[in-house]
Amino acid sequence: MKDLAAELDRLRGAHLYRSRRLLGGPQGPRPVVDGRRMLAFCSNDYLGLANHPDVIAALKRGADAYGVGSGAAHLVTGHSSAHHALEEELADFTGRPRALLFSTGYMTNLGVISALAGRGDLVFEDRLNHASLLDGALLSRARLRRYAHADAGSLARMLGGEGARLVATDGVFSMDGDLAPLPDLARTATRAGAWLLVDDAHGLGVLGAQGRGSLDHMGLDPEQVPILVGTLGKSFGTSGAFVAGSEELIEILIQRARSYIYTTAPPPAIAEATRESLRIARRESWRRERLQALIRRFRAGATQLGLPLMDSPTPIQPLVVGTAAQALSWSRRLEARGILVSAIRPPTVPQGSARLRVTFSAAHEETDMDRLLEALADLPQDEPASSTVAVT
Ligand SMILES: Cc1ncc(COP(=O)(O)O)c(C=O)c1O
Repeated sequence: MKDLAAELDRLRGAHLYRSRRLLGGPQGPRPVVDGRRMLAFCSNDYLGLANHPDVIAALKRGADAYGVGSGAAHLVTGHSSAHHALEEELADFTGRPRALLFSTGYMTNLGVISALAGRGDLVFEDRLNHASLLDGALLSRARLRRYAHADAGSLARMLGGEGARLVATDGVFSMDGDLAPLPDLARTATRAGAWLLVDDAHGLGVLGAQGRGSLDHMGLDPEQVPILVGTLGKSFGTSGAFVAGSEELIEILIQRARSYIYTTAPPPAIAEATRESLRIARRESWRRERLQALIRRFRAGATQLGLPLMDSPTPIQPLVVGTAAQALSWSRRLEARGILVSAIRPPTVPQGSARLRVTFSAAHEETDMDRLLEALADLPQDEPASSTVAVT
């Protein structure tokens, strides 16, 4: 235990200590955090559905109809008609024959990759992929090769001659907000005879017609991307995740994906709530339009202020500041003015690229953006953090 205390001291000293905040009510642009009302720009509730009255009502109806716990794994007696209906609706939404629900996106990626690749196989991943995709490859015992970020040329050079099984990428990169070059990746993977898996956790709901995501946005069809992963705890405002693909893909996953088989099915009421939020997300395109308007306004304001914007067309608009100390310092200064923006530090992002991860929701108002830009304009440059209290 002495070693653990020393390690915690080391993290504090390196500005890498993480701590949690206490949310005192629902998710939204103005949550109560540690007892104080804040203006927040750090959730993934992009469409503003996590606290939508119709989604809450669907959850309550679901609990009345199905109780709370699912009571067993999907393959035992936990697979309810609520789960099944949601799977059919997700298959329709993604334009694929089948979809399979998982408890979380993290578990989806562990389960899918380790079911499809194994010892002796090769898995190729973008250097900046989400941890769950990288961990899935490690768990599979396949050899993992990481290509340069968003660089299909780098992937093509690494693939040369070797028998690749799977290429996996975020659709929208979770900490950068940029898009993977999906058409080029799809061509490269197909040429090498590898499957392409796209995790569109941050694209679904936000991009494409009816929020169908990065693939729709870039005009890709299911043959080019045979494995699509989506999460439900971000744009759809509930919890859980899914994989969508062919009949055979889903049946193999039901047989082999250990994080699907050996775990209790999520509460059916969550599936009922998600069915409602999916309907709203598809129908209410004003939410996507509003996000785009907020993004345009933020980028114009931040450019005027000379802030370090990244090349992102999505509601994830990081400001890369460099050191963990600087990111913490800026996050704390904003917090002092009642504005919450997470400081994201290594190992979540590479050394030297600590950042403020600013995110928007369709529930934000124009005046919220004004407050944020005013506070950002007042940030001093190059100021070290004096405390280690913070966030992700
Ligand atoms: C790209 C990506 N995939 C998967 C996940 C994990 O999803 P979940 O939070 O449902 O476990 C996340 C974020 O949490 C993510 O950003």
